Amino acid sequence: MPVKPVEWRDRRLFIIDQTLLPRECVEIALPTVDAVWEAIKRLRVRGAPAIGICAAYGVVAGVIERNPSSVTETVQAALVAAERLATSRPTAVNLFWALERMRRVAEEAAPTMANAELLIDRLEAEALAIHAEDEAMCLAIGRHGAALIHENTGVLTHCNAGGLATSGYGTALAPMFVAHEEGRKFRVFADETRPLLQGARLTAWELVKAGIDVTLICDSMAAQVMRERRINLVIVGADRIAANGDAANKIGTYSVAVLAKGHKIPFYVAAPSSTFDLTLEKGRQIPIEERDPEEITHGFGLQTGADGVKVYNPAFDVTPAQLITGIITEKGIIESPNAEKIARVLGA
Ligand code: MRU
Repeated sequence: MPVKPVEWRDRRLFIIDQTLLPRECVEIALPTVDAVWEAIKRLRVRGAPAIGICAAYGVVAGVIERNPSSVTETVQAALVAAERLATSRPTAVNLFWALERMRRVAEEAAPTMANAELLIDRLEAEALAIHAEDEAMCLAIGRHGAALIHENTGVLTHCNAGGLATSGYGTALAPMFVAHEEGRKFRVFADETRPLLQGARLTAWELVKAGIDVTLICDSMAAQVMRERRINLVIVGADRIAANGDAANKIGTYSVAVLAKGHKIPFYVAAPSSTFDLTLEKGRQIPIEERDPEEITHGFGLQTGADGVKVYNPAFDVTPAQLITGIITEKGIIESPNAEKIARVLGA
């Protein structure tokens, strides 16, 4: 069974604190909007779909925290929570997509609700639906994508787009979990993913736990491993995909796409429809999060950068659609993606 990075039990929100993995798998409670905001900002919960799910529950937790005595106060509390959580991270569109759903439910359901408790029930149901839908989308992505993984395929992935980043099988890792369940033997190469090592800490942890053959490499080794013909397929996740198919994902993904093109290796992006942002025509409009320089100069508490050095730390990059062989969605694989095909498949 996949891991559960976000759980809602007895009207309380819990997450696995991913900053502690792979040393410890510890669950923490997030009882307030501030705690949810901090957990998203610090990457205790991370990965585009998981951030959206956590934020949806965060809105419910924020309403419960304020103990509203009327429907109007409940709507107000939901809107305040959503506004605050929207400032936690800028790139993954799933966050804004989920918050918009919660905001719409609060405003549209309010006039039909007799009291605050009924509206809280409705908000809770919406967050649970967002969670369940993501689980189903991940499984469908896994089923479509598994057809790309044959006996002895060597697959490269970057960052973590597994169960820890979603609510189920993950996106990029879902085809691997399904192919494994179907009994195929293949090998995964996981880029360690500087600077926060989501590949080394999280992807490697998930795949080892599932019994999938995984080999960890430094990001800078991908070209050599490709030249050695150990890789026949690349699958990565995405944080936001523009209408034309340009895809933002963890920093370093674009380099992997260029390398894959240079070695004639198919490069796939796996993402649910909640990761598409059709309001943006092109990838260059996607906001790219810049993170704390200390993640590079003092990674995991050890100083590795010279005192006084300038640092640039963009957390994501954008892979142009021309470098993407296909986008694996829950609705099927969009080969050689472009605006027209994406609109058709997503029914926009
Ligand atoms: O900064 P992170 O760890 O949240 O970045 C995560 C990624 O870039 C993932 O590849 C992406 O969110 C896809 S998750 C299914």
